[in-house]
Amino acid sequence: MVSAPPVLELAGVDHVYPDGSTGLRDCSLALARGRRHALLGANGAGKSTVLLHLNGLLRPGAGQLRHDGQPVDHGRAGLAALRRRVGLVFQDPDRQLFAAHVEEDVSFGPLNLGFDAGTVRARVAAALDAVGLREHAGRAVHRLSFGQKKRVCIAGVLAMEPEVLLLDEPMAGLDAAMQAGLAALLDRLAARGVTVLLSTHDADFAFGWADDIHLLAAGRCIASGRAATLAARPDLLHAAGHRVPLAIALHAELAARGVLPQSPAPRSVPALLDALRALPRQFEHPGETTA
Ligand SMILES: Nc1ncnc2c1ncn2[C@@H]1O[C@H](COP(=O)(O)OP(=O)(O)O)[C@@H](O)[C@H]1O
Ligand SMILES: [Mg+2]
Repeated sequence: MVSAPPVLELAGVDHVYPDGSTGLRDCSLALARGRRHALLGANGAGKSTVLLHLNGLLRPGAGQLRHDGQPVDHGRAGLAALRRRVGLVFQDPDRQLFAAHVEEDVSFGPLNLGFDAGTVRARVAAALDAVGLREHAGRAVHRLSFGQKKRVCIAGVLAMEPEVLLLDEPMAGLDAAMQAGLAALLDRLAARGVTVLLSTHDADFAFGWADDIHLLAAGRCIASGRAATLAARPDLLHAAGHRVPLAIALHAELAARGVLPQSPAPRSVPALLDALRALPRQFEHPGETTA
């Protein structure tokens, strides 16, 4: 059986910044299509550099970027073709936004692709709906909150209808409700077949959300795999500067004491709480009654 090639792949990529700093060294990772991927690593591990390579904004010093198994041509036409299919949301919205008004900013991508006015309007409306900003279409960008600016950036990329959505630390600076809303939006996109890759230094979030995890340390991807598989590898997590996610560590202790079954292992603390609440309560305080 011939399996489909990864939608995007870095193969042995080196990157040295102009000041001589190493961004990546011999970095290889592959994104299976239609899955939720987390790029997990400490500060300075190379997450942003990986995302810039996957979108063709940086060019490998050595090694290769492949799209659908084919080497990407870093000429003008090749990069335009790549960026039609692969959208990147920067960590800092002010680096991405450039138009004065929300609708204008979100329209830029589809206008640039040459769509007619009706198609552009429909795409912009759908993208603003997806991020919950339809009623803010006419607002001045500089008056928006950080979270709203972030959502405008995401809408601008969604309006291109990319097959791969890359997001650099998208949860940073968002409150808990906004993080949950964004995670739900990314889940909906993945359910429609969009490949999503986000970078994060939060192992609890990564293991709670992603299907696949790519562990980055000192400019190299030291391991890639299913979240459930990597969760059982504290050695690799430690090598990347992370501890075992709290839900997984707690579950392992509870399973070792026979309180919970070994599997399934809950992916998040709320899922662990649900598993515990499903157990009968054995020890009641005198006088306490259960409902
Ligand atoms: N523009 C730059 N110029 C010089 N060095 C950089 C630049 N951007 C990143 N680096 C260096 O490359 C390495 C990887 O950085 P980065 O990709 O930003 O990591 P992360 O996103 O995981 O924090 C770090 O050592 C960082 O200092
Ligand atoms: Mg970064």
